[in-house]
Amino acid sequence: MTTSLPRVAVLASGRGSNLAALLAAREHGDLPVEFALVGSDKASAGALRLAEAAGIPTLALDPRSYPDRRSFDADLFDRIAASGADVLVLAGFMRIIDGDVLAPWAGRMINIHPSLLPKYRGLHTHRRALEAGDREHGASVHFVTAELDGGPVIAQARIAVEPDDDESQLAQRLLPLEHQLLPAVLTLLAQRRLQWSDRGILFDGEPLHAPLTIIAGQLQAVE
Ligand code: GRF
Repeated sequence: MTTSLPRVAVLASGRGSNLAALLAAREHGDLPVEFALVGSDKASAGALRLAEAAGIPTLALDPRSYPDRRSFDADLFDRIAASGADVLVLAGFMRIIDGDVLAPWAGRMINIHPSLLPKYRGLHTHRRALEAGDREHGASVHFVTAELDGGPVIAQARIAVEPDDDESQLAQRLLPLEHQLLPAVLTLLAQRRLQWSDRGILFDGEPLHAPLTIIAGQLQAVE
């Protein structure tokens, strides 16, 4: 019997360290997926160079060549569908996507966001956590909906904020945890252990009442 692995497309606008973590997990045999496509809205994105080096098809579309946001999103998502992707990962993709365009991907599309959602949707999350005097900060992986950073949260990674932290130190300390969190969640999705239904997120068929937490590289349910 042959079983085909889920095909994953990744969208990234920047350097691509989260993509690199996914590629490394796949390389180590920890992530049971095939990468169908890496796409970007920036031809200069480091993520595209990483994908090229790994032999993954890439796509760079310039939003400025489209009459409006929706036609860019529609073309991008047509091409993602044409790649045969089953699952879509946003790994530092810095654009808001049209709700109608992303609707067919509900439950098959995840995003990593550097805050403990629902806190600090949008930009400058590290700065905002520091300004608020938070003692704890983190990252979240959530299912994507039309609401920016507003879909149901699957899992989080947490770090303590140190008294002398600045924005870049906090971001730098969080990043290695993002690199554990995203492959771990994508693994569960690939194994079909996560579903998003009208009962909310199901983990191994049971409703998830609170986001999973990553501890020592392992996702754990919070009691
Ligand atoms: C990460 O902090 C991610 O959480 C956020 O954008 C950053 C992307 O970094 N959405 P990279 O391009 O994966 O290195």
